[in-house]
Amino acid sequence: MRRGFAGALLTFAVFATAHGAEAQTTPHGATDAGASQRLPASARYVPPRDRRPAHFPDGWPFPAGRAPVVAKHAMVVSDAPIASAIGSDIMRRGGNAVDAAVATAFALAVAYPEAGNLGGGGFMVIHLANGRDAALDFRETAPLAATRDMYVGADGRVTDASIVGPLASGVPGSVAGLTAALARYGTMSLARVMQPAIRLAEHGFVVDSAFARRTADYHEVLARFAGGAVFAPNGQPLKAGALLKQPALARTLRAIARTRGRAFYEGPIAEAWVKELASAGGIITMDDLRRYKAEWRTPIRSVYRGRTLLTMPPSSSGGVTMTETLNILEGFDTLPAFGSTRWAHLVGSAFQRAFVDRNSRLGDPAFVNVPLAQLTDKQYAATLRATIGATRATPTSSLTALKEGTQTTHLSVADARGNAVALTTTLNELYGSGVYLTSAGFFMNDEMDDFTSRPGVPNMYGLVQGEANAIQPGKRMLSAMSPTIVLDPRGRVLLVAGSRGGPRIITSTTEVVLNVLDYGMTLADAMSAPRLHHQALPDSLRIEPHGVTPAVTDSLRAMGYGIYEGSGIGQVNAIMRVPGGFEGVADPRGSGRPVGY
Ligand code: DON
Repeated sequence: MRRGFAGALLTFAVFATAHGAEAQTTPHGATDAGASQRLPASARYVPPRDRRPAHFPDGWPFPAGRAPVVAKHAMVVSDAPIASAIGSDIMRRGGNAVDAAVATAFALAVAYPEAGNLGGGGFMVIHLANGRDAALDFRETAPLAATRDMYVGADGRVTDASIVGPLASGVPGSVAGLTAALARYGTMSLARVMQPAIRLAEHGFVVDSAFARRTADYHEVLARFAGGAVFAPNGQPLKAGALLKQPALARTLRAIARTRGRAFYEGPIAEAWVKELASAGGIITMDDLRRYKAEWRTPIRSVYRGRTLLTMPPSSSGGVTMTETLNILEGFDTLPAFGSTRWAHLVGSAFQRAFVDRNSRLGDPAFVNVPLAQLTDKQYAATLRATIGATRATPTSSLTALKEGTQTTHLSVADARGNAVALTTTLNELYGSGVYLTSAGFFMNDEMDDFTSRPGVPNMYGLVQGEANAIQPGKRMLSAMSPTIVLDPRGRVLLVAGSRGGPRIITSTTEVVLNVLDYGMTLADAMSAPRLHHQALPDSLRIEPHGVTPAVTDSLRAMGYGIYEGSGIGQVNAIMRVPGGFEGVADPRGSGRPVGY
């Protein structure tokens, strides 16, 4: 499997200019939102009456029984505490969930630059209290100059150019998406919801230890490109306690706010960043920007054990793959005991089958015919269910139609009026392509790697994909992002969830849904619970270390499973409606935080 930046020999560099950020040390303040709203240890958390206790194996690092953050009116859960606080404050001041989601997303572009972004894209699922649902696709597109084999070298091997450097980027969709969502369903002006992000970029924020750790981890990549001057000034990654100001980003954000987003795609700011990218060897043009459009789509609506799921249709594979998996599992009256061999077998096998279809049949609906109705059909799921053996793993090769051949962030918002937004956005790998545009103050994505560079050759997530997802100019690359809203039988928001982690987005989000709906776990337990992952190819069942007992691992091996132990299956941020308000939980695998009121 090709890895992000490691080992890539880079001939490309963009050097910092005077527009770089300032960093200085300050003894006070914190990036985060202040004290956690977690219940004090003395106050005993009383789970809702319909929840059941969970039990995890010995050695599992996240104990059952944690308390969530609770809020009476509204909640935001994101990967940056300060961004959650900004979104929550927008709702406290009268904004709705869409206002808050857009404010949070722009704040993440400042305070969580590894994944929050202007230079990337994403997906949003919206449920309104009046019963309306919407899905917005602001995925990047392949530049017009992109070609099918642009990442295949003269020796026939797939290169790293889809992952790192100026050729790795699709045409960014985030600004078009966030502004389109606000214009259609928000209640506040763009200037109002962007104001906190602009302040954060202009006046700076104090780097916290999680931010400092991530910057240090990616220091080498950052140092190779112009972002080094901002995030690792004088060659030293920012330390906790440093004040990070981003004046170039503040200017770009102000221009976006003033022009309802247009300044990102036309005029002097757009021209400057396109020129800077082109001078480094990039192929995105002003024509690409002029053509870019966020697309409103109809969410996939499916029913699982009486609850309605609203999920993201293509160009994300998230909703189709989740729906197909759940349809397969729904045929079992009850799921086996959580953590048991049979649980891993059935859940893993359902994912495996859904991923076979995902990897071979899905792509941008503007370019390929996606058999949505078939793949989300319960009868079709029954035929797949029938292929799951009682005691043996099924080799993917016997299922597959595929004969041809970290970084994302999710935020969940629920408001006091009954509206909810699930929004996932990404640059793909952490800090995207690594290319930082000093003229505008943001990182470019490396989303082109989500296309099939060559049928049959795994991408950076090991996904082996087919022709339906081949590169074509103007096409959206297939995504796994899975922003999801679950409604209760009365049509009210029950759960808002989504994740990061490439293909593991689909499995981690689905498992949180299963843990809540099938296993009756509290939201905190559903998030802490060990996860598994199967994506058809590589043909192995991935489990988290200590996630199942050694006896279960042995049994699974005896059934024919190749077992791969890898930590961190997803990083979910979720909200659940409970009597009296909301519970918010950030994944214990990450450093996010819920904030509500
Ligand atoms: O759209 C996708 O499926 C990927 N670009 C997501 C990448 C991701 O989640 C990286 N984060 N860990």
